[in-house]
Amino acid sequence: MAKKPSLPDEMRAIVIDQQQLIVVTRPVPKPAKGEVLVRVRAAGINRPDLLQRKGLYPPPKGITDVPGLEISGEIAGVGRGVKGFRKNQAVCALVAGGGYAEYCVVPAPQCLPIPKGVNWVQAAALPETFFTVWTSLFERGGLKKGESVLIHGGASGIGTTAIQMAKSFGARTAVTAGTDEKCRACVKLGAKLAINHRTKDFVTEIAKTFPEGVNVVLDMIGGDYLQRNLRCLAPYGRHVSIAMQRGRMAEVDLFQVMSKRLTMTGSTLRPQPVSVKGAIAKALKKQVWPLVARGKIRPVIDKVFALQEAQAAHDYLESGKHVGKIVLKIRS
Ligand SMILES: NC(=O)c1ccc[n+]([C@@H]2O[C@H](COP(=O)([O-])OP(=O)(O)OC[C@H]3O[C@@H](n4cnc5c(N)ncnc54)[C@H](OP(=O)(O)O)[C@@H]3O)[C@@H](O)[C@H]2O)c1
Repeated sequence: MAKKPSLPDEMRAIVIDQQQLIVVTRPVPKPAKGEVLVRVRAAGINRPDLLQRKGLYPPPKGITDVPGLEISGEIAGVGRGVKGFRKNQAVCALVAGGGYAEYCVVPAPQCLPIPKGVNWVQAAALPETFFTVWTSLFERGGLKKGESVLIHGGASGIGTTAIQMAKSFGARTAVTAGTDEKCRACVKLGAKLAINHRTKDFVTEIAKTFPEGVNVVLDMIGGDYLQRNLRCLAPYGRHVSIAMQRGRMAEVDLFQVMSKRLTMTGSTLRPQPVSVKGAIAKALKKQVWPLVARGKIRPVIDKVFALQEAQAAHDYLESGKHVGKIVLKIRS
């Protein structure tokens, strides 16, 4: 029988140097109490990584400067006090940093098994958007069966996950996207209505298809979208902010909020404690992983790059041409 490779002392990792991603050699991290060490197969790329590269989204205190918020791979080491995980077990995991590397340490509660039929690249594309969509759309937004939701950025990593999850839980979705091609991709994923925000006014289009308004808006745009989003909401509607690509300040017509009894809320995933992320992981495993295993929901992979091509992968994400996720394949 072939001997399992022992753990090396050093690994290749990506770091940020003058807002560019470069490959360096770093010591292989050691799992602390409650953590596992993962031999990384693939790492997902997310828009927050672009912000981190530009110095606009620093890692939380105590977290590595190596970027990367999600990984897949096998467990290569188990820290003290970890229960329920063993060496060589295949997992995908949400991390607060460190994903763009050959090895990465993860708090054990943030690891999940890889659903049946999902490969390493797809598995690495699951955690960040699935954790975010679960907590924002269902926990904060309270989206329920029979309701409707407007999702901005429908063709994004977050959007493609949100469309499929909302549909699987019996909600009708409307989305915005920046090209007709992206709109078609969103409809294929299950969106009832896809609006090209470059050629059409989404408030008018929502009113035509959802005359009562939608129950939830999942917003990653902010700024002047906020007031327009509130106009799309039905009585008792919920507005969930997860990003502010058009600015953090917004003017709100308070009478809309009062007269329709709206709720405005939001969420940021990365700074949440391990206990909160662990609770989301448990909910996903119970309620969403079976849907992924049955093929009802699948991560949409647009393009795969090698670890050393991380900068090119960021440039591609920044171009906004993608539909779904971009992933770094770190080993076969
Ligand atoms: N709060 C959290 O916990 C959390 C966690 C993860 C991600 N996020 C945020 O969620 C967003 C999506 O992340 P991602 O990784 O999925 O990024 P992504 O794939 O790069 O998507 C960004 C999307 O924004 C869309 N967009 C930009 N301006 C728009 C506009 N005016 N109207 C409608 N859509 C617009 C783009 O679509 P078009 O080009 O088609 O317009 C693109 O699809 C990012 O802003 C990220 O920072 C938040």
